[in-house]
Amino acid sequence: MSANYTQDKAAAGPELPYRVPAARPSRLNPKSWTWKTWTGIAVALILIIVAAAVGGVLGARANAYPDYSKLNYSLQDTYSGDNFFSQFNYFTGYDPTHGFVHYVDSPTAVSENLTLMSNTTTSSATSLSTSGTAILRVDTADQNATTGRRSVRITSKKAYNTGLFIFDIVHSPYGCATWPSVWMTDVSNWPLNGEIDVVEAVNMGNMGNQVTLHTTKGCEIGKNRKRKQTGTALNYNCYNGTDSNAGCGVSGPTNTFGAAYNALGGGVYALELRSAGIRVWSFPRSNIPSDITSKSPDPSTWGTALADFPNLECDISSHFKNQTIVVDIDLCGDWAGQPSVFNADAQCTGTCSDWVADKASSFDQAYWEFGGFWTYTATAA
Ligand SMILES: *[C@@H]1O[C@H](CO)[C@@H](O)[C@H](O)[C@H]1NC(C)=O
Ligand SMILES: *[C@@H]1O[C@H](CO)[C@@H](O)[C@H](O)[C@H]1NC(C)=O
Ligand SMILES: *[C@@H]1O[C@H](CO)[C@@H](O)[C@H](O)[C@H]1NC(C)=O
Ligand SMILES: *[C@@H]1O[C@H](CO)[C@@H](O)[C@H](O)[C@H]1NC(C)=O
Ligand SMILES: *[C@@H]1O[C@H](CO)[C@@H](O)[C@H](O)[C@H]1NC(C)=O
Ligand SMILES: *[C@@H]1O[C@H](CO)[C@@H](O)[C@H](O)[C@H]1NC(C)=O
Repeated sequence: MSANYTQDKAAAGPELPYRVPAARPSRLNPKSWTWKTWTGIAVALILIIVAAAVGGVLGARANAYPDYSKLNYSLQDTYSGDNFFSQFNYFTGYDPTHGFVHYVDSPTAVSENLTLMSNTTTSSATSLSTSGTAILRVDTADQNATTGRRSVRITSKKAYNTGLFIFDIVHSPYGCATWPSVWMTDVSNWPLNGEIDVVEAVNMGNMGNQVTLHTTKGCEIGKNRKRKQTGTALNYNCYNGTDSNAGCGVSGPTNTFGAAYNALGGGVYALELRSAGIRVWSFPRSNIPSDITSKSPDPSTWGTALADFPNLECDISSHFKNQTIVVDIDLCGDWAGQPSVFNADAQCTGTCSDWVADKASSFDQAYWEFGGFWTYTATAA
């Protein structure tokens, strides 16, 4: 630089008392660009390319969505009428979720009227069944249930890896201390083979239904992933080791469970479990698709689901296997029994276990009534 400077200076002639600014070279003339400009341009170009690539990847990521194209479903199993309870085992062990409950066996449930088929319930006329409704209830007779109240938990004898499951619900249970659920899992391989909570709520059941998945590590739904659902996403990691095993949940509007749901005559919950993803629809009684009623269901015509768990960051096929249908009404336990949860409903006072022990008559709405369940399997093309 010094050599040039000297030359320039020599060529410049006598120095003036002030420097005459040289004509500012146009930055549009590449010949005048310095190495700094070239570096800047190179960096900018690289940044643009990287940004475009990242943007493209993120855009593709945000738009990625599984192929939920139509499957042809055919009826596999019918749980209805006199064949309802015979297709379930009654669980009688200590409640794995620590409820203040005694799950009774089939003879006890029948003799105490905790499970029964009914022709007489007023709302049964509007179920999908022509052969009565199945009722599962919490005991309301014991006035001093100091070691826990009697209830039922039944598990289907059959297990499923995939399929479409139709649950016709005439009445959903609610009331202080209750924790009812219709769900699917492999009880002896939990959480390895996954858990799908199709219908679940606690206490007064006035917060809407919650649909939730629980899995081992490596199953997430992805916060910024495309989903097609009307419900509200709660958590995104389904791994049982995160969020205190809250799972990845989706919450529905208040009329998807409890008194508000029952006032609509209940309705149908539909679960589709396939490699592309897991979806759950909730149809109120007045709006059940005719293909469900006619037993030729086609989810591709049903519109947006209540909950959608696409397979984008979760290999559904490996995380959900060997699923049995479980129906129960737990009391207190890991969810309903937490003091902050139990007392969140103004009418649920004191401790959950005291309520269960003392308030037999408060369990009068603590019963499931089902028209039945129908399972469908996809037939090969
Ligand atoms: C059993 O429950 C059903 C349905 O609520 C009711 O109609 C029936 O009277 C009950 N039977 C007995 C023996 O309590
Ligand atoms: C329901 O009604 C059918 C047909 O009327 C009858 O055969 C059946 O025994 C009834 N079941 C009950 C539980 O009342
Ligand atoms: C309830 O049961 C407990 C324990 O068995 C007993 O001490 C108590 O006296 C009973 N209370 C009533 C009102 O029967
Ligand atoms: C499927 O589930 C049943 C009941 O939970 C269990 O006994 C069986 O071992 C499971 N089978 C497989 C292949 O995981
Ligand atoms: C999650 O599941 C594992 C078994 O795979 C179990 O050891 C662990 O206690 C579970 N964690 C919770 C919070 O349930
Ligand atoms: C469903 O059935 C139709 C008509 O038989 C057939 O064309 C189509 O390939 C089937 N789709 C699948 C996924 O099996």
